[in-house]
Amino acid sequence: MPYNAQLTGMDFNLSEEHEAVQFAARDFAQNELLAGVIERDNEQKFDPALIRKMGDLGFLSMMVLPQYGGGGMDTLSYVIAMEEISKIDASASVIMSVNNSLVCWGLQAYGTDAQKEKYLTRLASGKMVGAFCLSEPEAGSDATSQHTTAEDMGDYYLLNGTKNWITNGNSSEICLVIAQTHPDRGHKGINALIVEKNSAGFTVGRKEDKMGIRASDTHTLMFSDVKVPKENRIGEDGFGFKFAMMVLNGGRIGIAAQALGIAAGAFELSLKYSQERKTFGKPISNHQAIQFKLAEMATKIEAARMLVYKAARLKDQGKDYIKAAAMAKLYASDVAMWVTTEAVQVHGGYGYVKEFHVERLMRDAKITQIYEGTSEIQKLVIARELLK
Ligand code: CAA
Repeated sequence: MPYNAQLTGMDFNLSEEHEAVQFAARDFAQNELLAGVIERDNEQKFDPALIRKMGDLGFLSMMVLPQYGGGGMDTLSYVIAMEEISKIDASASVIMSVNNSLVCWGLQAYGTDAQKEKYLTRLASGKMVGAFCLSEPEAGSDATSQHTTAEDMGDYYLLNGTKNWITNGNSSEICLVIAQTHPDRGHKGINALIVEKNSAGFTVGRKEDKMGIRASDTHTLMFSDVKVPKENRIGEDGFGFKFAMMVLNGGRIGIAAQALGIAAGAFELSLKYSQERKTFGKPISNHQAIQFKLAEMATKIEAARMLVYKAARLKDQGKDYIKAAAMAKLYASDVAMWVTTEAVQVHGGYGYVKEFHVERLMRDAKITQIYEGTSEIQKLVIARELLK
């Protein structure tokens, strides 16, 4: 029986629907993702057929409304699925997270009817994935400093610049690109554009050789005089930075759920291993040194889960979730790093080799403290909200 400590109490029991999502995601992770996860990590490749399968099963467009072909599920369902998939394969879950939280949700919340019809339906069908392009060589945390330009040419924008560390960089067919149109207006001059991959002047550059989430494709993207039709702008002129911030608020809930899943996956492995592995004539779970670790791991995971669920519930209730999302990501990512490090320790020498999975989970955990805003950025976001 996998570890599945659910929140108990009036407000925290999972509904039957949520339990069904959990079961489906766990089933997919165990039966489709687990077998090749070490190989994919080694080879830094994610089989496109597996992405399509995730799409067919609805994991790539969970919150998209049924009228566009999505699952019409709530954020809680999404984080429950993210946790289960991240327990096994964080490369799969980052593909899922970017597509669900940033691309699909961004288009659904702020796109025009025509944009939703043209792009969201294709994303929801699972036949293509999207990418979100904000980071640049000189604009990571400092996201207002966009050097990529979208010059207003009348009925189109002329896009020039370079984007870095783009998840789904190669596998995506459309990209949401953040670029500066009116430098004199600062962040209020930034636009968000839907850019099709086959546009002239769009080049997929170098693939990153990463520490973790190695199977997900992370690339540099280059734009050289790419013509983007005006109707592909999301929102009003100058809405691009606000758009990026709003989708990242929701994205942080997804990454918090990823971190939670990585931690929970490492914990489940440690719990099992500690009952099988014997030292000094008894299972290591009989030693207090190991019991203390297991107890602390489970406690931190449970606390992280409550923060993640709370942020998801606030979003589903239409309430302000900016602070809750940043808190969930800040805490869950630290828990993921700590728990996976302890999991390697529980496994001893076996923890240091690939076969036992925890070393990969430890490498995967680190990125959750970095992307969609570093831990330091989460603290800034939380403090901004506290001091409002
Ligand atoms: N939600 C909504 N609006 C926000 C916001 C938030 N969390 N944070 C800032 N804003 C708004 C502000 O209200 C302000 O708008 P107004 O001028 O209309 O009032 C505007 O943005 C600028 O805010 P600041 O003056 O505070 O800007 P700043 O430069 O001092 O700080 C920041 C902004 C919070 C640090 C922001 O730059 C940020 O979040 N940086 C991190 C970027 C990030 O997360 N990158 C991740 C890349 S994507 C990724 O990782 C995807 C992947 O591959 C997995």
